[in-house]
Amino acid sequence: MLNKSAPTTEAAPVIELRGLTVRRGRRDILRDLDLSIPAAEVVGLLGPSGCGKSTLMRSIVGVQKITAGTITVLGLGAGTPSLRHRVGYVTQSASVYDDLTVEQNIAYFSRIIGAPPGDIERVITTTDLVPYARQLVGSLSGGQRSRVSLAAALLGSPDLLVLDEPTVGLDPVLRADLWSMFRNLAADGTGLLISSHVMDEATRCDRLLLMRDGSILADLTPAELLESTGTTSADEAFLTLIEHAAGADASSLGEAGRPTHARRRIGTP
Ligand SMILES: Nc1ncnc2c1ncn2[C@@H]1O[C@H](COP(=O)(O)OP(=O)(O)OP(=O)(O)O)[C@@H](O)[C@H]1O
Ligand SMILES: [Mg+2]
Repeated sequence: MLNKSAPTTEAAPVIELRGLTVRRGRRDILRDLDLSIPAAEVVGLLGPSGCGKSTLMRSIVGVQKITAGTITVLGLGAGTPSLRHRVGYVTQSASVYDDLTVEQNIAYFSRIIGAPPGDIERVITTTDLVPYARQLVGSLSGGQRSRVSLAAALLGSPDLLVLDEPTVGLDPVLRADLWSMFRNLAADGTGLLISSHVMDEATRCDRLLLMRDGSILADLTPAELLESTGTTSADEAFLTLIEHAAGADASSLGEAGRPTHARRRIGTP
């Protein structure tokens, strides 16, 4: 198991992709992706609707049929049974039971993964759901429901959390609360891969993967994104990047100040 107190450089890469291709029908949904995330950090996966974010996340958690390539998660092949306890996954639509209470939902998922006693209370507290613990999930607001999914993913203290648009539909206060929770989890050594449409969330990440049309256009820090594109907002930066990519010149962006370990551009020659 990834030792959360060990220096991250000595640990197995959190996620490593080599030549990952996913074809659906006649279309390549993901195209020959290479990626290495060596440290437990908050990694934002950003890109327009339909670019392949959920497909990439499903591949990483081992529930997507892949066409070619390899995916290594915490040193093991994606989908390896022992990873079930080490990787928490929240799908894009909340996958919890409306006719059970918050506590019953969490207790159910806890039994499935064999989480330690006390974990139910811990995850309900972490996600600020204590006041709703005895309430049916069907009677909760959208934001509260997504926090129940998140609570379930936190059971067993996974080393990696894969969260597909966890903040969609939340008001700015709740979004800020969730992001501070993500930061706390990362500070404790958990790796987080978080997808979002909302570009201003980019600045809350340690590292960004910008996707478009099945490829990763850029792999950099938020500061590098702004610096390399000469822009002041993540929104603007992404548009600039897309324009450059369309001009087949994306590889000239983003080299300044790039740390050497795996801070590299993906999907460009
Ligand atoms: N079952 C399917 N069969 C064929 N193509 C599919 C299927 N599901 C999704 N796709 C296609 O795969 C592509 C990537 O979809 P994916 O859900 O990964 O995108 P996304 O980036 O997560 O989008 P969003 O931001 O809207 O959630 C899309 O073009 C979509 O049309
Ligand atoms: Mg999606």
